[in-house]
Amino acid sequence: MDKSLVLFVGISCFLLINGVKVEDCDYMTETDYTRFQSFQALEPEEQPYRTAYHFQPPKNWLNGPMYYMGVYHLFYQHNPYGALFGDRMVWAHSASHDLVNWFSLDHALVPSEPFDAMGCISGSVTILPGNKPVILYTGIDANYNQVQNLATPKNRADPFLIEWVKYSGNPLITPPNGVDGDNFRDPTTAWQGPNGTWKIVIGSYSNNQGMAILYQSEDFVNWTMHPDPFYSASKTEMWECVDFFPVSINSTNGVDTSVANLSVRHVMKLSFNSRDYYIVGTYDSEQEKFLPDVEFTGTSSDLRIDYGKFYASKTFFDSKMNRRIIWAWVNESDSSEDDIQKGWSGLQAIPRQIWLDRAGKQLVQWPVEELNNLRDNQVYVYGKQLESESVFEVSGITASQADIEIMFELPELEEAEFMDTSLVDPQLICDRQDSSVAGKYGPFGLLALATKDLTEQTAVFFRIFRGDNRYVVLMCSEQKRSSLRDNLDKTTYGAFVDIDPRQEMVSLRTLIDHSIIESFGGKGRTCITARVYPKLAINNKAHLFAFNNGTLSVTISSLHAWSMNKARVNCRGGLDNTESC
Ligand SMILES: *[C@@H]1O[C@H](CO)[C@@H](O)[C@H](O)[C@H]1NC(C)=O
Ligand SMILES: *[C@@H]1O[C@H](CO)[C@@H](O)[C@H](O)[C@H]1NC(C)=O
Ligand SMILES: *[C@@H]1O[C@H](CO)[C@@H](O)[C@H](O)[C@H]1NC(C)=O
Ligand SMILES: *[C@@H]1O[C@H](CO)[C@@H](O)[C@H](O)[C@H]1NC(C)=O
Ligand SMILES: *[C@@H]1O[C@H](CO)[C@@H](O)[C@H](O)[C@H]1NC(C)=O
Ligand SMILES: *[C@@H]1O[C@H](CO)[C@@H](O)[C@H](O)[C@H]1NC(C)=O
Repeated sequence: MDKSLVLFVGISCFLLINGVKVEDCDYMTETDYTRFQSFQALEPEEQPYRTAYHFQPPKNWLNGPMYYMGVYHLFYQHNPYGALFGDRMVWAHSASHDLVNWFSLDHALVPSEPFDAMGCISGSVTILPGNKPVILYTGIDANYNQVQNLATPKNRADPFLIEWVKYSGNPLITPPNGVDGDNFRDPTTAWQGPNGTWKIVIGSYSNNQGMAILYQSEDFVNWTMHPDPFYSASKTEMWECVDFFPVSINSTNGVDTSVANLSVRHVMKLSFNSRDYYIVGTYDSEQEKFLPDVEFTGTSSDLRIDYGKFYASKTFFDSKMNRRIIWAWVNESDSSEDDIQKGWSGLQAIPRQIWLDRAGKQLVQWPVEELNNLRDNQVYVYGKQLESESVFEVSGITASQADIEIMFELPELEEAEFMDTSLVDPQLICDRQDSSVAGKYGPFGLLALATKDLTEQTAVFFRIFRGDNRYVVLMCSEQKRSSLRDNLDKTTYGAFVDIDPRQEMVSLRTLIDHSIIESFGGKGRTCITARVYPKLAINNKAHLFAFNNGTLSVTISSLHAWSMNKARVNCRGGLDNTESC
């Protein structure tokens, strides 16, 4: 398809959805839409930011992932009319056997009825006993009120669940008194109490409090609101994509969403202001309340799933592999004009297994093991000393499409500089003491998507501080020099890593995929995702370095790096991926 034509379609639809009515975009048929996706087929030089192994349609974010009859399903928010957000969002649908290679299916839900005329927005899938999947989703009705609707598969024997039927009694739930019609959305996966009652929570905002409102039902159709919020907190905005799930206290295995006993703790995840926060606590099923171990504070001490770009995440229990998986939308850091030019915006982070840390205070995340099947060309380094102010190129891999695991040894920890870190915002330290500011231990880490001469580079690095009777590990992802281009969001991200460097080495795993860098510090205790758009360090002109700009030397105890093969993402042609992508 001619590129200028695609550009024209994107721009005019964008103007239309923001101005007049979407129907004027009707010339964008399903066939055009498929061709619109064929942007992926443009030459790599024209699409240096298109990823190779991340899930990526033109525009998306997450609804309800699930596993059903041997197949993983991803439903995601999608605007079929252009590269930007718009009215009348649909539930697009893809399926996979391994969470890495995906093929696309017909849209599962599109606006069609008074209860979802202006959009089918987020929701969740619940698998009812007898292996019966159902969708609860938020519809934007003809009056722009957010209402909750039910849909069921037309044919449950079809493992691809292609066709969905909206329940004739929709909407099931409308905004309660005191809640604005545009502050009531994203029902969770339901869980079942011991006597069989189904429960969900819905995100809201009322009386200056963000909140999760609990609803109960015996039959999944007639839902009754609990009079008190399940959990609420001030210093937040409207809670989007609320998630509520159990985690085992003594195992990395996941458990089904209805498990509630002494073997588990519970987690409340809330999304607002482009950030995904979570709180570990206890589920009091008698009072129907979530009791947090530590209340939400509205400060940098609140726990986040990821301290970079990572939004509207949802989890699901993967019964095949006995794990819980979290998945999220990662938006662009370039301008809307760039997105229209690219023809797409938004992608999914790599799905991550998620579990409770042994100490019980925070979650740990790690890319699903299936991702390792894309690894190729391993290179490794052991026992390499990195002197003060040194860089070391990791060569032999495709640096624009790579997976790196590195462990650092710090032989003279007691030399680390002193800092009272109890009162400081880690992101601010990362920003003020960036990778060019020498400390004692740190900055040391990786320079990803770098030019040979380092004029472009994204620095993912650590600093070690000595506090009173403890050491503090700071992890940063610095985008200041990530691109020679302007008009990009180059915010520096940072967070502490809850490890004791006397007990374990400081470790980092980083996934690099053209315009996304996902980093896992301290074996997944702290995660930071960044979007970057290098001008020069693209494709085979990208390099990868390890560096140390501290005054003390550090040792790379081990470094393993792999080129990553391209995944087959959104191929048409069914499970065997017979057609090209
Ligand atoms: C189940 O228990 C809940 C309280 O947890 C109660 O509200 C509900 O009426 C009970 N349902 C049945 C069918 O007993
Ligand atoms: C819905 O459930 C509530 C509470 O269980 C009950 O009082 C009410 O009669 C039910 N309504 C219908 C239409 O079944
Ligand atoms: C909690 O429930 C899970 C799943 O049903 C079960 O495997 C586990 O043994 C239970 N633990 C306790 C302490 O009852
Ligand atoms: C976890 O603890 C529960 C009880 O607290 C026990 O039933 C279960 O067997 C334990 N699981 C593992 C993997 O240790
Ligand atoms: C997406 O990213 C931009 C720029 O990086 C940010 O300002 C914006 O709030 C994000 N949008 C959403 C909907 O999260
Ligand atoms: C390391 O420090 C030197 C000297 O200050 C500086 O030129 C260089 O850019 C720094 N490296 C990084 C990755 O910031």
